[in-house]
Amino acid sequence: MVAMLLLRSKWSVAVAIVVSVSVGVLFCSGYTPSNSGKQSTISDTAYAGTASCRSCHQAIYDSFLATAHYRTSRPASAATIKGSFDSGKNVFSYNPFMQVRLEAEGEQHFQTVYVNGEPTHRESFDIVVGSGKKGQTFLYWKEAQLYQLPVSWFVPSQSWCNSPGYPPGMPRFNRLIPARCIECHGSGAVAETNENNVSYFDRNSIEYGISCERCHGPAAAHVNWHTQHPGDKQSKFMQSQDKWTRAQQVDLCALCHSGIRVPLKPAFSFTAGDRLEDFSRPKYNADSAAMLDVHGNQYGLMTSSKCFLNSNMTCSSCHDTHRQEAGNLAVFSARCLNCHGEGAKAVCKINPGNAFVLHENCIDCHMPLLPSKAIFLQMADPGKSTADPVRTHFVSVYPDAMKAFMKQVKRKQKHT
Ligand code: HEC
Ligand code: HEC
Ligand code: HEC
Ligand code: HEC
Ligand code: HEC
Ligand code: HEC
Ligand code: HEC
Repeated sequence: MVAMLLLRSKWSVAVAIVVSVSVGVLFCSGYTPSNSGKQSTISDTAYAGTASCRSCHQAIYDSFLATAHYRTSRPASAATIKGSFDSGKNVFSYNPFMQVRLEAEGEQHFQTVYVNGEPTHRESFDIVVGSGKKGQTFLYWKEAQLYQLPVSWFVPSQSWCNSPGYPPGMPRFNRLIPARCIECHGSGAVAETNENNVSYFDRNSIEYGISCERCHGPAAAHVNWHTQHPGDKQSKFMQSQDKWTRAQQVDLCALCHSGIRVPLKPAFSFTAGDRLEDFSRPKYNADSAAMLDVHGNQYGLMTSSKCFLNSNMTCSSCHDTHRQEAGNLAVFSARCLNCHGEGAKAVCKINPGNAFVLHENCIDCHMPLLPSKAIFLQMADPGKSTADPVRTHFVSVYPDAMKAFMKQVKRKQKHT
């Protein structure tokens, strides 16, 4: 979740600070480990790897490469770091004496602290976390441990900012990254996590991005069978999501999209088809709901909606996770009409006028972009922070959103 705080300081114009980039940032900092010892990994022989799916599922494979899931973590390179290294844009100032400079040298990229113009500390960009939709944060290796770099890239303002999780004021390099972070932003890692939630990784074991098998389970047997039996058009050795219960289907997405949870088992224990309640418990109740946010808890909001309660809806009723569909509200609206089209029990009676095509956008009226405090889940400190607006998954009637939307429509009609 990205919540933005605008600070005005004496020596600079507004500096955008990402208070907390994701559920996980809160989750990780407040997490009490209940496990230690060797953690499981998905890099064993039961898994075949995403590239192996291409030969038989080419269309899915090709479109999947463009998704935020596939791109959510990658080795750092000029191609994967979205932030700018151009002179004039490559500095983040903490105070008049301390800066971090973003430096590119050949294939490598660095964050270097300068105190009164003298370099004092430098680490390299090793891993990029975040597809770059809202922001990217960067990790560096120190032996078997991963740490967050002091400066992150904030997409809405196209600028570098102090990394989420670090206090403002001066650059720091000491935020350890636990395996949980990679559990949501990657597909596997061999790591040992101790009782203080410190993870020691096998550096070469990190599986970047969310793989096909993260959602479909291990597929080596499936690949082997179908490679040896090209005539067999019946899927073998592969779970069928169609045969899963609704809870199994929704739990897969909830693993990473239900916000702060209390873990019961080590990272990467959950595999596709499992029930999430065996691996973690929701952390929120009426009292701690203040910590939650609309960003991270699509699951909690969707499952409270009438749509979900009165149908067999899953996340896949609206999302095709094999494609990059963000921003295409007409596609999503067509999926609403699968249940709310002509003849359905509940149909929209709103008729905003002839020139306006209602069917192309159900979303701005019924799932508006809201500052996170606008629904029953509130920001921790609404007085202090301005939340970044996000698409609520509590599908309902929002009179204010409707007014704003109608104004926009009328303005557009005037111009055409
Ligand atoms: C419980 C799962 C979970 C954990 C743990 C987690 N994240 Fe996230 N993170 C998400 C989800 C889901 C999103 C997308 C938020 C949304 O749009 O609702 C996200 C978004 C982000 C983004 C913005 C991505 C973009 O392109 O806009 C960054 C950066 C990020 N997380 C970094 C981290 C880091 C660093 C850690 C570990 C310290 C971490 N996250 C831990 C689930 C998690
Ligand atoms: C050698 C060919 C081949 C390869 C490689 C292959 N598959 Fe399949 N897969 C098939 C065939 C054949 C089917 C059944 C027809 C169909 O649904 O396309 C299938 C079906 C599936 C299904 C649907 C199962 C169901 O019952 O709903 C999934 C999911 C799947 N494959 C995932 C994968 C993944 C993930 C990979 C890569 C790790 C992969 N496949 C690699 C041939 C292959
Ligand atoms: C974020 C989770 C997720 C990822 C990642 C993912 N899938 Fe799927 N996949 C699903 C879901 C959910 C369904 C069932 C869709 C439905 O019920 O409409 C599905 C269905 C399928 C099917 C059967 C239906 C069809 O569309 O043919 C195949 C084959 C498949 N996936 C292959 C792949 C391959 C290959 C990859 C990687 C290139 C991949 N999937 C990545 C979630 C995922
Ligand atoms: C292993 C963790 C994980 C699982 C499982 C997972 N997601 Fe995600 N999802 C993420 C993360 C992390 C992001 C943010 C990626 C980014 O922008 O860096 C994300 C982003 C998304 C987005 C936003 C995409 C965009 O381009 O704006 C959608 C939609 C989404 N997930 C739906 C689903 C659905 C539906 C499922 C279940 C079928 C699912 N996810 C399963 C981790 C996961
Ligand atoms: C899987 C089927 C399904 C899908 C997809 C679906 N809905 Fe619903 N929705 C329902 C059902 C069932 C109800 C309850 C109707 C009733 O009360 O009888 C409902 C209720 C509603 C309500 C009334 C909510 C309230 O609080 O009174 C609205 C508004 C709504 N849906 C909008 C949408 C929109 C917009 C979309 C697409 C983003 C959508 N729905 C997608 C099944 C669905
Ligand atoms: C009723 C339809 C519907 C259902 C069901 C649904 N979503 Fe969404 N989701 C949307 C729409 C519409 C958007 C906004 C797309 C856009 O703006 O491009 C969205 C956006 C998202 C995003 C990006 C968030 C952001 O603000 O950028 C994530 C992540 C996501 N959905 C995850 C999920 C998960 C996980 C589930 C299941 C628990 C789910 N969705 C179920 C319609 C739905
Ligand atoms: C301009 C805003 C707006 C748009 C666009 C819009 N709706 Fe609505 N919708 C509303 C309002 C307001 C209500 C409540 C009307 C009432 O109570 O009489 C409503 C009611 C509904 C209901 C509940 C009906 C019932 O009987 O309880 C459903 C379902 C619904 N809309 C679905 C949709 C779908 C699907 C779309 C896109 C095809 C859509 N709406 C587009 C504003 C809108």
